[in-house]
Amino acid sequence: MHELQQRIEKLRDEIRKHDYHYYVLDQPLISDAEYDRLMRELFELEKAHPELVTPDSPTQRVGGEPLKGFETVRHRVPLLSLENTFSAEEIRSFHRRIRERVAEREITYVSELKLDGVSVALVYENGVLVSGATRGNGLVGEDVTSNVRTITPLPLRLQENIPRLEVRGEVFMPKEAFARLNRERDEKGEKTFANPRNAAAGSLRQLDARVTASRLLAVFVYDILYLEGREISTQHEALHFLASLGLPVNPHFRYCSSIDEVIGYCGEWQEKRHELPYEIDGVVIKLNPVAAREMMGSTARSPRWATSYKFPPEERVTRLLGIELNVGRTGVITPTAVMEPVFLAGSTVSRASLHNYDLIRERDIRLNDMVIVHKAGDVIPEIIGPVKEKRTGKEMEFAMPDRCPVCGSQVVRFSGEVAYRCDNINCPARLKESLVFFASRDAMDIEGLGPALVEQLVDKGLVSNVADLYYLNEEQLAGLERMGKKSAANLIAALQESKKRPLSRLLHALGIRHVGLKSARLLTEHFRDIDDFRSLTRENLVAIPEVGEKMAESIIAFFAEPRNLDTIERLKQAGVNTCETVPAAPAGTLFAGKTFVLTGTLESMTRPEATAAIEALGGKVTGSVSKKTDYVVVGTNPGSKYDKAVSLGVAILTEDELLLMLGRE
Ligand code: IVH
Repeated sequence: MHELQQRIEKLRDEIRKHDYHYYVLDQPLISDAEYDRLMRELFELEKAHPELVTPDSPTQRVGGEPLKGFETVRHRVPLLSLENTFSAEEIRSFHRRIRERVAEREITYVSELKLDGVSVALVYENGVLVSGATRGNGLVGEDVTSNVRTITPLPLRLQENIPRLEVRGEVFMPKEAFARLNRERDEKGEKTFANPRNAAAGSLRQLDARVTASRLLAVFVYDILYLEGREISTQHEALHFLASLGLPVNPHFRYCSSIDEVIGYCGEWQEKRHELPYEIDGVVIKLNPVAAREMMGSTARSPRWATSYKFPPEERVTRLLGIELNVGRTGVITPTAVMEPVFLAGSTVSRASLHNYDLIRERDIRLNDMVIVHKAGDVIPEIIGPVKEKRTGKEMEFAMPDRCPVCGSQVVRFSGEVAYRCDNINCPARLKESLVFFASRDAMDIEGLGPALVEQLVDKGLVSNVADLYYLNEEQLAGLERMGKKSAANLIAALQESKKRPLSRLLHALGIRHVGLKSARLLTEHFRDIDDFRSLTRENLVAIPEVGEKMAESIIAFFAEPRNLDTIERLKQAGVNTCETVPAAPAGTLFAGKTFVLTGTLESMTRPEATAAIEALGGKVTGSVSKKTDYVVVGTNPGSKYDKAVSLGVAILTEDELLLMLGRE
C-alpha cells in the first residue's frame, strides 16, 4: 500500500509540474499523449483506491453535485476598487498626490496590464487551494470554490507549503475561447455574451462546475491580501514571490523608476494590446514599496497608492451597406452586416455578425446607417448602434423575410428563442451544412467529404438528403470539379467504410437537436436499434437520468417526421448500420474493456469463478502483469505478480474491492 501511495504522489507531482509548464509558463515539456497517459494512470489508481484520493489531486478539478445556490463569504481584507485616469495628465496628477506624502526617493512604481475579467479572492491553506470567492460588493462575495478549482492554470497546490496565503486575481476568458463560445451559442440560437468579461462572469457563476470547466477560463493573480509567516516589502517582490509558488502571474508587469516610464508603458500597451491572446482595458499603476503605500492609505472605496489608466475605447464609424442572411445546419438564420471596410483594433473590418433580428431592432440599426463598430473581446466586430444624427432619410428599416432567402420556405420562430429558422429540413443551405456535419470526424467520419465537394453535390442535384450519399457511384463523382478517378474511388471507399459506424455516431450525425455525441451514447446504452426510437415516449426517455425534457421532445419530434423516417429507411437499404455495436457497459460496472490479473488465493470464490464473473461483465482476465493491465486482484499469499503490479504502478484490488465492483457486497 505504501508503494502505491508513493506512486500516486509521484504521478500527482509529475502532473502538477506539467500543468505548470503547460498552462502557466506556456512551455509544455511532454506531448499531450504522454500527459494523458499520466493522467489516466492516476485516474485508474484513484478509482481503485478511492480512500487515497485527496482534494488537491489533479484529478479533482471537477467534482460534486451542482449547487442549489452560492454561499456568501466575508473577505478578510476588503477588495477595493481603483480610481480611473484617462490621460497622461491625470497620471501625473496621481503622481503629484503621492509626492505630497512620500519622499521622492521612495517613489517607484510597478505597471501591470489591466485584465478585463472578474476579480476573485483565493485562499490557500498549507499550500492547498481551499476557497475562491467573487469580489461581490468588496466586503462580501460569493463562494465559487468548486468553480475556480476547474480553472486549469490555477494550481490546487502551491509549490511551497505556506501556512496561509490569500491572493487577489482576475478570472478572464481568453479571446479564442470567447469567440468559440459565442459561435457555438449563435449556432444553437442562444444569446451571445457581449464581451469576455460577461462571459467570464457568467461562466464563473455557474451552479454546475462542469459548465465552468467547459468554458476554458484563465486567471492571473496580482495582489497579496494576506500572508502568514513572511514579509514582502514591494509589489515587485510580491509578483515574483507569487510566481515562484507556481501561481499564474501576468509576465508583462514592469518596474518603473519614474512616472515618465509609467506613461511610456501605458502608451506602449495601448498600441500593442491587440497582440495579446486576452483582452486588456488599460494599465494598473501601483506604488511599489509597501511602506510608501501605508503612508498613502486608502479611502473606503479605493487605495490612494494605485490607479488605473483606461485605454480609450476603440470604435470606428462606417456605413452599413447591407445585411446578409446565412442559414445554418439547424436552420437558424443569422444576419451579417456588410460595411464599408474600416481599420479597427489591429485589422480591417467589413463584416459583423448581428446575431439575431431582435438585436437589429433593439439597436434600431437601419440599412445605409452610419454605424459605430467595435470589437467584442478585441476580436469579434460588432455594431454598437447607429449615429442617428447622421441620418439623411435614405435609411431603411430591415425586416426579417417570412420566407427563407435560400429555399423560399416558411421562416419560423420558436417561443423562447431569439433565432428565426428556416423550417425546411431539405433547404439547400441547411442541407449543405448538415451534409458537412454528417461527414465530420465525430459523426460518420467520411474522409474526403468536405464543404467544397458538398457544395457541388447539392448544386448539381446529386444529393438532396444524407441518404443520397450512399447511392452515389464513381462515375458521378469522377465528373465533378477537382475530382479524378482516384479520388472518386477513395470517396466511395470512405462512404463504404462509414456504413459500419455504431448507432450512436449515426444518431449524432443526423443532427437531432439537443442530441450530441455524448447524449447519443447514453441513449444507445438503452435503445440499441434505430427502430427502438420510433416507439419511444416522453416517459421512456426522461426515465434516463441525463435526458431532459427538451432532448426528449426533440427526439420524439424527429422520429415522428415522415421525411426523417424515409431517410432512415434509405440509409438502411444502402447497408448503413443502424444498431449499436459498442458493447453496453452493464449498468454500474467498470469492467468493459478492462484487463484483470488474479494472484493469490481468493476466499469467496475460485479463480475460474472470478474469471467467469469478470468476463460476464465485459472484462478480460490474463495471466501476466504488464503496463496494459488495468487491475491486479490480490488474494492471500500473492505471488510475484503483486510485486510486478506495484512496480509498474498498476491498480491493485483486494478481494473485497473486487466483490464491490461485481456488485456482490
Ligand atoms: S489591483 C487594491 N491589478 O481592475 C488593488 N486590479 O478597476 C486593486 N484588475 O477590481 C486591484 N487587472 O478587478 C489590480 N493587474 C491588476 C488588475 C486589476 C485587472 C481589475 C480588478 C479591479 C479593477 C479596478
